[in-house]
Amino acid sequence: MPSVHQPVVVRIDGGRPENGQVDAWIVPVFEEDAFVDLPGLDEATGGELSAARTRAEFKGKAFEVLACPLRAWGARYLIAVGAGARAAWTGAQARRVATVGALAARSRRLPRVGVLCRPCPSDQVASVVESLVEGVYLANYDGAARKSEGPAQSWVSELVMQTADTAAARQAVAVGSVVGEFTNQARELVNEPGNILTPRELAERATALAGAASLPIEVLDDDAIGRLGMGLLQGVARGSKEPPRVIVLRHEPAGVTAGPVLAFIGKGITFDSGGISIKPAENMDKMKGDMAGGAAVIGAMCAIARLNLPVRVLGIVPATENLPGGNAMKPGDVLTSAAGKTVEVLNTDAEGRLVLGDGLWYARRLGATHLVDVATLTGACMIALGKTTTGLFAAPESWGATVLAASERAGERTWSMPVFEDYRELFRSDIADFSNTGGRYGGAITAALFIKEFAGDLPWAHLDIAGPAWAEEAKPYQPKGATGAAVRTLVELARAAGEWAGR
Ligand code: BES
Ligand code: MN
Ligand code: ZN
Repeated sequence: MPSVHQPVVVRIDGGRPENGQVDAWIVPVFEEDAFVDLPGLDEATGGELSAARTRAEFKGKAFEVLACPLRAWGARYLIAVGAGARAAWTGAQARRVATVGALAARSRRLPRVGVLCRPCPSDQVASVVESLVEGVYLANYDGAARKSEGPAQSWVSELVMQTADTAAARQAVAVGSVVGEFTNQARELVNEPGNILTPRELAERATALAGAASLPIEVLDDDAIGRLGMGLLQGVARGSKEPPRVIVLRHEPAGVTAGPVLAFIGKGITFDSGGISIKPAENMDKMKGDMAGGAAVIGAMCAIARLNLPVRVLGIVPATENLPGGNAMKPGDVLTSAAGKTVEVLNTDAEGRLVLGDGLWYARRLGATHLVDVATLTGACMIALGKTTTGLFAAPESWGATVLAASERAGERTWSMPVFEDYRELFRSDIADFSNTGGRYGGAITAALFIKEFAGDLPWAHLDIAGPAWAEEAKPYQPKGATGAAVRTLVELARAAGEWAGR
C-alpha cells in the first residue's frame, strides 16, 4: 500500500520573503487586510491580488483560496488563503488555514511551500507557528491510499516558516512537527479497514511506532489477559476468532521518579458490530473506527516520548473486536471484572465501557495517579453535543478543569458534561453489582458513570469522542474520515504537567 502521509522538512527563515526559494507562498489574508504589512506582494502578482479583492472574488473570508502565478518573491505561485477576522486569529484558525493552503499546493503539485506567519500579539506567536506547522502536516495525508491508481496530488516535501528565528519559534516548529506527524499516524490507524487492523495488527503497528519513538511497549496476549482476570475484556472478545490484546506504553523519562503518573486509557475496539445486540447495517462500516480512542492514546504517547516531556505517562489500549460469533457473550450474561466487580451485560453493544473498566483497573495497578480515558463511547454524546464536539466527564471538577484547559490550548472543541452520581441507579442490576446500560436518556452520562466505577478514588476524566473522531462531511481543512481527535489534547495535558502536578 502506498503511504498515506509523509513527513515534512521544516525550516525557519527570518529573512525577507521576497528572497524565498519555494514553489508556493501560502499567505493567510484577513478580511480587513490592506496588505500594508506585505509590501510588494500585490505587485509580484501583477496586481491580481488587489484586483480579486476589488471584484469581491476573494474577500479574506475563512478558507477562501486564491491561487495566482508570481512574477517575483522566489516562488511560482501565491496561494492566498482567507483567514477571517484578524481578531479571531487563534491557533485553531491558523491550523485550518495552513491545511487549506497546503492542500491547494498539493493539488497544483507544488511540493516546496512557504508559509508567511502574519502578525499576531507576541504571546501568541509560538502557538500560531506551532499550529501552522501542524496544519501543513495534516494536509499531507491521503485517505484514498487503497485506490490502485497512484495519488493525484504531490506531497508537501519542504516547509519554510517565514518568521523571526527565535528559540520559541524553533521549539514551536519541533512540537508542531511531532504532533502533526502523530496525529496523522492516529488518523491512519482509524481509517484502516477492520479486516486489516485486527487487535493483533493494532498491537503490531503500535510496536513499530513505539519502537521508532524509543517508547517502551508491552503487549498482553490472551493468556496474560486471562491471568490478570480481565473478564470484561474477555467477555467482549469471546464473540470473535481474533484474540484480544492489551497494549501498554510507558513513558518513564530518566530522572523523573517523583510527581504524578498520568495514565491514558484508549478504547481499542477494532470493529464494533454490536455483538449479539447487533447494530443496523446502515453506517456499521464506520465502526472500524471504534478504536479511535486507542489510536489517540498511541499517537499521543509516541509524541510525548519524542518530545521527551518530563512527566511519567502510561498508555493502555484494551483491543478487541465486538462480533456475534458462536461463543459471543449474550444479553443477560454476567462478567467478572479484574477489579472484582460483577457486571450484568444487558446490551452487548455497550462494549466500550466494559473493556475500559478493565483498562482503568490495570492503569491503577501500574501506579497511575491521574486517569484520562478516551473513547468513541456513545451515540448519545453526539445527540447531546453534535458531531464536532468532545464530551468531557470528570471528577473531581478541578481535574476536569485541567483537562478542559488542555483541550482549549489544543484547539479541540470540548464541552463539560455533568456526572450526576444519582444516575447510577439507572444501571442498577438485580443480580450483579451493576449492568452495562442505563437506558436511552442521559446515555452519555450513565456510560461515563459506569467507567468511573473503575477509577477508584483517583482523579479521572473521560473524553467521549464518538462525534469528532470521524468526519462524515468533508470540510476545506478536513477530508472525510478519521480526524486524529484527542491526540493534541492529551499531548497538551502532558506538556502542562508542571502546572497541575502539585495540585
Ligand atoms: N461505538 C459505539 C458508539 C458510537 C456510535 C460511536 C456511533 C461512534 C458512532 C458504542 O460501542 C455503542 O454502540 N454505544 C451504544 C451504547 C448503548 C447500547 C447503551 C450507543 O451509543 O448506542
Ligand atoms: Mn457498541
Ligand atoms: Zn463501540
